[in-house]
Amino acid sequence: MGIKALDYESLNENVKKVQYAVRGELYLRASELQKEGKKILAVEHSSNVCTNMQDVSLYDFLESTSVLGEHVVALCQAPFLLDDPNVGLLFPADAIARAKHYLSLTSGGLGAYSDSRGIPGIRKEVAEFIERRDGYPSDPELIFLTGGASKGVMQTLNCIIRGEGDGILVPVPQYPLYSATISLLGGSLVPYYLEETANWGLDINDLRQSVAQARMKGITVRAMVIINPGNPTGQCLSEANLREILTFCYQENLVLLGDEVYQQNVYQDERPFISSRKVLMDMGPPISKEVQLISFHTVSKGYWGECGQRGGYFEMTNIPPQTVDEIYKIESIALSPNVPAQIFMGLMVNPLKPGDISYEQFVRESQGILQSLRRRARIMTDGFNSCKNVVCNFTEGAMYSFPQIRLPPKAIEAAKKAGKVPDVFYCLKLLEATGISTVPGSGFGQKEGVFHLRTTILPAEEDMPAIMSSFKKFNDEFMEQYEDNLSHSRM
Ligand SMILES: Cc1ncc(COP(=O)(O)O)c(C=O)c1O
Repeated sequence: MGIKALDYESLNENVKKVQYAVRGELYLRASELQKEGKKILAVEHSSNVCTNMQDVSLYDFLESTSVLGEHVVALCQAPFLLDDPNVGLLFPADAIARAKHYLSLTSGGLGAYSDSRGIPGIRKEVAEFIERRDGYPSDPELIFLTGGASKGVMQTLNCIIRGEGDGILVPVPQYPLYSATISLLGGSLVPYYLEETANWGLDINDLRQSVAQARMKGITVRAMVIINPGNPTGQCLSEANLREILTFCYQENLVLLGDEVYQQNVYQDERPFISSRKVLMDMGPPISKEVQLISFHTVSKGYWGECGQRGGYFEMTNIPPQTVDEIYKIESIALSPNVPAQIFMGLMVNPLKPGDISYEQFVRESQGILQSLRRRARIMTDGFNSCKNVVCNFTEGAMYSFPQIRLPPKAIEAAKKAGKVPDVFYCLKLLEATGISTVPGSGFGQKEGVFHLRTTILPAEEDMPAIMSSFKKFNDEFMEQYEDNLSHSRM
């Protein structure tokens, strides 16, 4: 018998090349330990690892919005409940009204496919949200609803990458959706390094160098990704920085992919979130008419955290109509995004308003969760900075801390002996000793010889001090064990 198409050795090589650390060795070991009955503190939630790890309630997210979302979707799933005389006892009036509204937008309830771009009425709600946010009109025909922001990113990269000669500028450290998708599509990742000593800022001169180096290798750089606020680095881009980036894209003829999924998660006041699209429009012609921009958003983050619903959208700016039609055609292959997820998106972009029954509760709780995340960001980064050989920039936004772990040479040697990448070695020891499950920095990319780990800032606020003191105890003992009494300077 010959080799079959799905035998490992004959698989598409691009599939085998994909690396996805967020579900890598640490995740697998944590799952094993959990099966053995060890208490795992899943401070790392990505890909919803947390959902199968008990003991941590990562998603103490907003009751009123999630309840409203779940109520609305429950009613839409079972519309006969709307005719029940007791419906008002079981569901809040605002949920009933919303369910009726969204059902009227569907073409036959939740069991029917929608337009491949998403339900027109919900795309209109997204356009209105963007207009309120940015102060510029937005066209629902240029907004496509997707199964999470990830699907939109993958689809966009699919349209851009024609082969390995096509390069995409990606920040390093980066969220591995980008590196993995570029590998899968057979393109080339062109890294630009974020500067840790400058609070993970982006230097345009470095960007120019990255592009020049890629071109010298014969790569056509076609697009640039920004993640704002950043994952895993947590930085928020300033308006001035966004202007520089857009000017750079204009000069270099690059499509800008603006990953703005954490736009609600901002924990400082100096740099509030500002969308790439608003800055682009503010810049005026020729840039505002020329730079091609695709922006992504999701229901997975913010104070919603409804990541299992898989709702997202992307908005296209300055994309020619023929290309929009081609993207529509490609979206049509998968028929339609999930209809319940589209309703969650509608609810997110069109939240409760003054006068709605649950409005005050909504404001109290949404502000409460964002304030708590702000405090958690502080507890976590301060906690890391109190540890030996650990330095951590403040988490300005998003949901992560990304401390640098200055590993002593002896620890690096021990890792090599154990056949492990040094930060994987450290994170595995941390997991075994404390049950704290993190993702090694190597999964996100980092400068040569520099090591990090990523945690979320999502554990419940009251659990944070204990988690950080358990981390500190482990870390300081680890450093003692492997240090040669050489001092490691702080940045
Ligand atoms: C930067 C970034 N982009 C996109 C996504 C994917 O979001 P979604 O759940 O909408 O697919 C994530 C999820 O963690 C993320 O961190």
